Amino acid sequence: MKKLEITDGIHMLTMNVEDILFEGMWDIANGVTLNSYIVQGEKIAIIDGVIGWDGIPETLYKNLEEIGVEPQNIDYLIVNHMEPDHSGWISNFRKIKDDFTIICTDKAAKMVASFYGEDKIRIVKEGDTLDLGKGKVLSFHPVPNVHWPDTMYTYERDTKTLFSCDMFGTFGRMGDHYFDDELTPEEIDFFESEGIRYYSNIMATFTGNLRKAIEKAKALEVNIIAPGHGPVYRKNPQKIIDDYSRYSLYAEGVGKNEITILWGSMYGMTAKAVDFVEGILQREGIKYNKLEMPLESESEMVAAVFRSAGVIIAAPTYEYKLFPPVAAALNELGRKRIIGKLAFRFGSYGWSGGAERELNEIVERNRMNWDFLESVEFEGAPKEEDLKKVEARVLELIQKMKEKVVE
Ligand code: FEO
Repeated sequence: MKKLEITDGIHMLTMNVEDILFEGMWDIANGVTLNSYIVQGEKIAIIDGVIGWDGIPETLYKNLEEIGVEPQNIDYLIVNHMEPDHSGWISNFRKIKDDFTIICTDKAAKMVASFYGEDKIRIVKEGDTLDLGKGKVLSFHPVPNVHWPDTMYTYERDTKTLFSCDMFGTFGRMGDHYFDDELTPEEIDFFESEGIRYYSNIMATFTGNLRKAIEKAKALEVNIIAPGHGPVYRKNPQKIIDDYSRYSLYAEGVGKNEITILWGSMYGMTAKAVDFVEGILQREGIKYNKLEMPLESESEMVAAVFRSAGVIIAAPTYEYKLFPPVAAALNELGRKRIIGKLAFRFGSYGWSGGAERELNEIVERNRMNWDFLESVEFEGAPKEEDLKKVEARVLELIQKMKEKVVE
């Protein structure tokens, strides 16, 4: 765990968490940070906690003491969002201190009670304030469905610091640099990539709500954005606001100038056409991601499709339906509300077709509104005339995706 002063009277405690499945399902290859913030006036508030997974409160308490805060002197626990990555420490804290007040939205209060049995709760609404003394005044601003319905921003008026919880967060471990002005160009690229993974994996479902939260952040005068995951933005908080605005567009069909090939093959027939397509993309100088399902992680699959302006689905018919690992991937993309993508599908069939029918069912059921070019299906191995059709469609995709590129 690291401790840092981010501005006058406000500290951050942060730790990297690795080797976990985030939300019990996302295999995050590059880890994630959990950030907690301590605001000191005459009273002391801690915003979100950082011991959700390791369950070692002593780590937190030792670090608090080193920044001059006795855990017993903490008056307020501010729960911006009840998900246990931010609140899992409450029960441990209860073991050492009895008289504290939890501050959260009404929706969070219900869950704080049901998850942890807590009932000493002050429910706050838009614009409510908490004066900690010594000039530190917190105000509260609900941002529902960023990520859960209970979420709120906390804003400190004196330093104009926005504690944004999941909003403006990113996956990815932090090394020695914790602030935007410290990041190397490589680290900026890393957090762009991990930010996209984070947004696509856990936030994309709520893009409409995130847009409202972006507007709410813009309406506040913000000098520092201090999220629950990832670096703190003190030099240029507008950058992460702009990045999130761009990510919200990726959720609705635009993307970077790259193609993701989402593919699977039973006995190598569809794979022959995938190899052929790779050759075309290399010849045309198009950046591409080749993800074989089910070998690829769900996290990377969702992130790659999300950020791409073009998608190629390569999957055969399997028992009268779409090859199941690719069908499952498409379903997940639909559940994540990744809509409006430009796409093309091809694939092999043996005794019967059926993949196309299921693909259409998935797209319609999830209201994905993807723009598909005409598919190419071939019996058994792809013949020369099949590959010619595939090439024509891939070139059409490359042409059409130019209108979808937002970098
Ligand atoms: Fe960082 Fe939605 O939890």
